[in-house]
Amino acid sequence: MSRLALTPLTFLARTAVGKGTRCFSSTSQRMALGRKAKLNNGLKVDLIGYGTWQSPPGEVGPAVSEALKVGYRHIDCALVYRNQPEIAVALHSSGVPREQLFLVSKLWNNSHRPENVEKDLDLTLSQLQTPYLDSWLMHFPVAFAPGPDLEPLEEGSTTRRKIDLEAPGIAATWKEMCRIYEEGKKVRSIGVSNFNKEQLETIINATGIVPALNQIECHPGLIQQDLFEYCKEKGIVITAYSPSGNNTTGKPRIMDLPEIQTVAQKLGKMPAQVCIAWGAHQGFIVIPKSVTPSRIAANFDDFELSEENFKLISEAGKKNPVRGNVPGEYIPAYWPINIFDTEAEKKFPLRPW
Ligand SMILES: NC(=O)c1ccc[n+]([C@@H]2O[C@H](COP(=O)([O-])OP(=O)(O)OC[C@H]3O[C@@H](n4cnc5c(N)ncnc54)[C@H](OP(=O)(O)O)[C@@H]3O)[C@@H](O)[C@H]2O)c1
Repeated sequence: MSRLALTPLTFLARTAVGKGTRCFSSTSQRMALGRKAKLNNGLKVDLIGYGTWQSPPGEVGPAVSEALKVGYRHIDCALVYRNQPEIAVALHSSGVPREQLFLVSKLWNNSHRPENVEKDLDLTLSQLQTPYLDSWLMHFPVAFAPGPDLEPLEEGSTTRRKIDLEAPGIAATWKEMCRIYEEGKKVRSIGVSNFNKEQLETIINATGIVPALNQIECHPGLIQQDLFEYCKEKGIVITAYSPSGNNTTGKPRIMDLPEIQTVAQKLGKMPAQVCIAWGAHQGFIVIPKSVTPSRIAANFDDFELSEENFKLISEAGKKNPVRGNVPGEYIPAYWPINIFDTEAEKKFPLRPW
């Protein structure tokens, strides 16, 4: 293992996968540009992926089927989205061969203690009915109290999540993820999500192993240039989540900015498509979510944004900064921890990485 990057794996699971692969008939890919990102171990990933957070039961399955028909192959999942079993049914009935898919899922916060890390992965593998993931991410640099409850509450509280102050920290969790990766059986790459530069440095310095991906909230209203540059320098590919500015607390959506609407109109595109193109323009993987067939197709229509439009949108975003996904603001139960150092989180003294 290079001290700087994940190395390519002779991926043992391939044999197992080949044996258990459902033979899904191929559907025609309609990706306009078909751009890909290359990870630090050589794996290639479609730049436009498909998000599944907040895709409800009964809707997520048909939506994933539709996404596969349209041509998406990169599907972003997570244990905490509580919809992986329904996604698995859609994947397996689609006719798409497993090796054509790029399946991402994430280690949840209640499994940060090293002894729980692999169990969490095994649960995801069984829910997705696959022997391996193409990428496995630490969902947050935050440990919750261990146990079966994905979202534990502090005793006597109905609003405060229980942070695990005894957890040994993100470096210990990452070390265990690296061990599983190096075994070469269950994950083809590993990465993180919602990490800032300080947290990335903590895990890299502790292990010498650089994550392949950092999945972060990223749209014109949240331009973290320092973090973008640090990731580029280290060879960490950014995955842009909430590309259109989705959020749970009713903040203005970035896709509704008049400047973005104007560019969209000029190009004959939807504002969400322009936001997706803005991320892809920078070489970021972008993972829009939709359960609406027309939007699922539109969001996959990868196109190049001109430099002029890119700058116009970036300037509009800078004037309207917004971070939608702040767990310290979640309703009804928030996380009493300062992850992103936003104004709303400053009242929480905890920063136990
Ligand atoms: N790692 C993390 O912590 C994290 C956090 C957040 C998200 N994510 C990942 O990133 C994915 C995307 O982020 P997101 O779901 O927060 O936000 P998003 O993709 O920016 O926005 C989703 C919302 O936009 C709507 N939408 C989608 N396409 C549209 C279009 N063309 N025109 C108008 N509205 C459109 C969707 O509605 P309909 O579905 O009703 O069409 C949905 O309400 C998630 O699904 C998840 O996989 C990861």
